[in-house]
Amino acid sequence: MQNQIPADEKYLYRLLQYYEEEIMGEAYFLALADCLESGRCREKLKLLAEVEHEAARSIAGLLDKYALTPRPPAVLADLGAEQAKAHADMRWRDYLRFMIDTFPRFIDQFKALEAIAPTADKPALERLTEHEILTIEYARRALRDDRDSAAILHDYLHDTERARDALKISNPMGECTGNPINHNH
Ligand SMILES: [Fe+2]
Repeated sequence: MQNQIPADEKYLYRLLQYYEEEIMGEAYFLALADCLESGRCREKLKLLAEVEHEAARSIAGLLDKYALTPRPPAVLADLGAEQAKAHADMRWRDYLRFMIDTFPRFIDQFKALEAIAPTADKPALERLTEHEILTIEYARRALRDDRDSAAILHDYLHDTERARDALKISNPMGECTGNPINHNH
C-alpha cells in the first residue's frame, strides 16, 4: 500500500511462476513419498510437501493483490508428479545429497525476487525464501543422522522462534564443512 512503485512485469511473472512451482513441489514430494524408499523417508517427504504448501500459501496473498491467476491445482499437481519420476529410483541418502547440491539455486532465485519486490511484498517473499533455506538445512541434518532433523520443518510450519534461530545459523556455504558436497553458487 505504502509503496507507489508499480511492480514490473518481470516481478509479476516470477511471482506467479514461483507460486506455481511450490504447488508443483508439493505434488512432487508427495509423489516421491510413494516411490522413494519406504519407511522413515515417506513421512519426511510428506512433511517437505507440507512445507511446499505453506511456502505457496505465504505468497498466495500477493497473487490476489496483483490479480494473478495460477494454472489449476490439478494441472500443477500433474506436472509436479511428472517431475518426481526422474528421482523415483534414488536412495534416500543420495536424495538428501541431491537436495543439498541443487536446491541452493532456488534460494538465489527467491532472493533475486525479493530484490526487485515492492517493500510491502517483502515479508511474504522472505517467508518463501526461508522455506528453501530450512529445507536444505533439514537435508544436511538428516544426512548427519540428526534425530531431530525434521524439527526445523515443523518449526517453519508453525513459524516459531526456533525456526528463526535455525535461519540465523544456516547458510548455503556454512556448517557443512565435513560434507564432501560442492555448492555451486
Ligand atoms: Fe519449495
